[in-house]
Amino acid sequence: MILTSLKDKVAFNRYYDEPAADQIARITRIKKDFGDDLLLVAHHYQKDEVMQFADARGDSLKLAQIAANTHQAKKIIFCGVHFMAETADILTSDQQSVVLPDPMAGCSMADMANSFQLTQAWAKLTAEFGDDILPITYVNSTAAIKSFVGDHGGVVVTSSNAKNIVSWALHRAKRLLFLPDQHLGRNTALDLGLTPENIGLWLARENQLQAENHQALRVILWDGYCSVHQQFKVEQINALREKYPDIKIIVHPECAHEVVAAADEEGSTAAIINYVKQAPAGARIAIGTDNNLVGRLIHQYPDKQLMFLNPFSCSCILMNRIDLPHLAWTMDQLAAGQPGNVITVAPEIASGAKKALDRMLLLS
Ligand code: 13P
Ligand code: SF4
Repeated sequence: MILTSLKDKVAFNRYYDEPAADQIARITRIKKDFGDDLLLVAHHYQKDEVMQFADARGDSLKLAQIAANTHQAKKIIFCGVHFMAETADILTSDQQSVVLPDPMAGCSMADMANSFQLTQAWAKLTAEFGDDILPITYVNSTAAIKSFVGDHGGVVVTSSNAKNIVSWALHRAKRLLFLPDQHLGRNTALDLGLTPENIGLWLARENQLQAENHQALRVILWDGYCSVHQQFKVEQINALREKYPDIKIIVHPECAHEVVAAADEEGSTAAIINYVKQAPAGARIAIGTDNNLVGRLIHQYPDKQLMFLNPFSCSCILMNRIDLPHLAWTMDQLAAGQPGNVITVAPEIASGAKKALDRMLLLS
C-alpha cells in the first residue's frame, strides 16, 4: 500500500487496533462474497495468520504454475513478495489483476541486480567471450531483469527446477551468466559436476569478473545472496551432529555451498516440506530455511523431532510484511470496489519477461 498522506497512515494504523477476530470474520465473509472470482495464494514462508486464508500455497514454481493456469479468478491476492506478484501479473491475462497486500514486501536478493548493472555486465562479458553466453535468472529477480534475460534467449529458474534447466542451458551455450543468487548458482553448477575452476563471480558493484582462469569458465555467478539463508553455518550443523548423531539436516539451496555440502539434503521449500512429510515418526531433522515454515512444520508433525538449524535466525522481514491487518485492509478495499496495491508490470517489460518465464514453464 502506498500511504501518501498522514490521513492515510492514521486510517491504516486503525487496523492494528482492531481485534484479530473481527478481521478474520470480515476476510472470511468478503472471500465468500467474491466466490470463484477471487483466489488467494500464499508462499510457504507466510505467517499462519495469513496462511489460514490461502486457497492454494506453494513454492515459487508452483505459484507461477498456478498463476499461468488460473483463468476463472479475476482477482488474485498474492501473499508473498513483490517479484512473485510481478511474475503472477505477467503470467495472467489483462482481465485479471494481482494484488500484493503490502508493496513494501520486496526481496533484498532480487534488489541486488538492476537493469543498468546487467546491461553493463553484459557488454563487458560479450566483449570478452563473444555471443556464446546465455543469461539465466533465478525467479527472485525484478521483472526488468527477467525481461532482459527473455530478450537475450535466456530462461528463469526456481530452486525446484534449477538443476534441470541449468543442465539444459549448459548444452546450449558455452557459458552462462546466472543471477542474482550466487549460492543457488554455485550449488547447482557443482551438483551438475562443474568444478570451482569452471565458476566465476561477477562483482556487480565493481562491474568486474573475478576468476582465476577466464577460459575455463562455464558459469558466471552474480554476487547476490539471501540475508536469511546467510544465517546458516557449518558450525551449527556440526554442533547438532555432535549432540544428536542420528540427526538429518535439510537446507534450502540459497545457503552457502559449504552449508549445503555439510547437510544431508537440500531442496526448495516444497522439497523440504515433502522430505519432512515422508520421514518416519520419531525422525530427528534440523531444517535450514525461514522460521515461519520451520515453525509450522514443527507444529504440524509433533510425532517427529523437528528443529530449527539456527534457533536464533531471523525470519524474512519482507515476507513478514504481509500480516492480518494488511490482508484485512486489502479485502476491505476490494469489497469497496477500490482495490489497492495492484501490481502491474509495464507491457514493454512484461513481454520479454514472459518469454523467459514461458521457457521455464515448458522445461518444468
Ligand atoms: P522456494 O521457491 O523454494 O519457495 O524459495 C523462495 C524463496 O524466496 C526462498 O528464499
Ligand atoms: Fe528474498 Fe531471502 Fe526473503 Fe526469500 S527469504 S524472499 S530470497 S530475502
